Amino acid sequence: MSNYHIKNLEEYYQVYRKSVRDPETFWEEVAEEHFVWRKRWNRVLHWDFTKPEIKWFEGAELNITENCIDRHLATRGDKTAILFEPNDPNEKAQHISYKELRRKVCQFANVLKEKGIQKGDRVCIYLPMIPELAYAVLACARIGAIHSVVFAGFSASALATRINDSECKMVITSDGSFRGNKTIDLKGIVDEALESCPSVTSVLVAKRTQTTIAMKAGRDYWLEPLMEVAYKDYVPEVMDAEDPLFILYTSGSTGMPKGMVHTTGGYMVYTAYTFKNVFQYRENDIFWCTADIGWITGHSYILYGPLANGATTVLFEGVPSYPDFGRFWQIIEKHKITQFYTAPTAIRALAKEKLDYVEAYDLSSLKVLGTVGEPINEEAWHWYNDNVGKGKTPIVDTWWQTETGGIMISPIPFATPTIPTFATLPLPGIQPCLVDEDNLEINGSPANGKLCIKFPWPSMARSIWGNHQRFRDTYFSTFENKYFTGDGALRDNTGYYRITGRVDDVIIVSGHNLGTAPIEDAVNEHPAVAESAIVGFPHDVKGNALYGYVILKETGEVRNHDNLRKEINQLITEKIGPIAKLEKIQFTPGLPKTRSGKIMRRILRKIAHKDTSDLGDTSTLLNPEVVEDIIKNAL
Ligand code: PRX
Repeated sequence: MSNYHIKNLEEYYQVYRKSVRDPETFWEEVAEEHFVWRKRWNRVLHWDFTKPEIKWFEGAELNITENCIDRHLATRGDKTAILFEPNDPNEKAQHISYKELRRKVCQFANVLKEKGIQKGDRVCIYLPMIPELAYAVLACARIGAIHSVVFAGFSASALATRINDSECKMVITSDGSFRGNKTIDLKGIVDEALESCPSVTSVLVAKRTQTTIAMKAGRDYWLEPLMEVAYKDYVPEVMDAEDPLFILYTSGSTGMPKGMVHTTGGYMVYTAYTFKNVFQYRENDIFWCTADIGWITGHSYILYGPLANGATTVLFEGVPSYPDFGRFWQIIEKHKITQFYTAPTAIRALAKEKLDYVEAYDLSSLKVLGTVGEPINEEAWHWYNDNVGKGKTPIVDTWWQTETGGIMISPIPFATPTIPTFATLPLPGIQPCLVDEDNLEINGSPANGKLCIKFPWPSMARSIWGNHQRFRDTYFSTFENKYFTGDGALRDNTGYYRITGRVDDVIIVSGHNLGTAPIEDAVNEHPAVAESAIVGFPHDVKGNALYGYVILKETGEVRNHDNLRKEINQLITEKIGPIAKLEKIQFTPGLPKTRSGKIMRRILRKIAHKDTSDLGDTSTLLNPEVVEDIIKNAL
């Protein structure tokens, strides 16, 4: 029996039971089988969820890029590691071999060193989906610098917050980025952000759009000339298994984003293991994950997981709608993609378009389809299954989080029978449970509760950068001795899990996690605004959209004040980014509050959902008349 390539459900259960009976032996086997360690571990696992303190492969030493690149050279030197598909379909795709990837990463590593970056320093990467993004990430890992990739759709202010939180010494960016028919001035955004980032001493700028940009002498450097003269070899820094590999920010329920800290050894083992298993990866497959490397999905399943397996991974710069809605399907045909991993939002958006876009292309190379980031509704699942998978390609609905580092609950293709909307069963090594209102674990099934994980897994985040207490409070204090995911879930009587959505103030819009607090803070900065509350409501493409209730300082007849709505959304775009814009803005004289002054979001959510037949217990409500008014004027 292999821990990989599980062939049927019975074998899954065998592997799963083994992994739970003795997790340490299970993960030790995986770690021994597949990687280059410079020094072996003294202990597989040490954990204490009360502190919390989690250590995997303690005492081991390695460099993740040696495992993702150098290790493959003997057998796969000329194999394509990264297949870059540009935004413009008329621009040639680039096949970057493992050999070439090594050279680029080594050169980049030397550039970083020359600019004074040392092991442990933080480097912010703010780049479009171009090969330099992959080189930058891997070059940081090669020298032991901690990368913090910030999605290049975030605004200057959001970028500055993230740079300052982890005191990055350097920013790596480009002159601009192409997205569909738009060109975005990335360097301009970086310049604006850096006005308030004292820790940054240098900026590397890759050339992509040939836009004329300002270069600040002594701070900004074009990347290419430095790469050209840089030495083509770099001996990888030897890292401790528990040394931080990267920081990745995710929204939380307070204003400050959480810099999730992921470490080296366990993250590598788990992403490599899950990549191989969940996508049933075989040599010569061409794997395409459409996420951006600015999110965890891109970190784990565009870069580290596939490269650790010596796979060919596609890096797509563009968007699904450019030059037309057939772009994804055209790329699948062109590169003979075998595994395709995308977000339900993209599927819903493409399902709205004519079927001709899909039918025009040969998708017969596909073996496995995946989804991630939000629940997939039944209709979208069937559309994907029927039109893309042609009814014969298993769909893996993968549930996981920035914090978990890798896929946690997912079918295994050809082994786990799938049911639309169910992420199905925990992967080997993962021990989920459901907890009820009284904080007790629910043992039987079917059951509905808050989803927790009872036992550590190798790729779990170890902390929040600079705020371990917040890490503890957010994830380990709600339920004793358990990691709390923030999600609700249902477990059916066969043990399958279906994720029902967030149970906190995070709203998932088009697969992006948005905390309501930072958006409310942005809205409240508008001079006309006194207070606001934001909730989510169902949206047929985005999954959820945002509904803002806004109290103005000067009341008056402003219910249809469209200019004000535009200004508020403009402010949100500046403070956070366009992904956080409000779909609906209702101006209201008040917000429903409890006697202790807490906004009753439950009521606002019901109104946004147009479900006001039963508002539940309103006995603690201070101002019931406001609710009437909000219902009457709801959008
Ligand atoms: O609510 C869950 C939802 O996305 C959240 C994690 O978001 P993020 O940290 O941005 O990571 C997304 C990519 C891994 C979860 O708490 N989520 C993720 N995958 C699914 C999902 N909800 C339902 N089904 C999924 N497959």
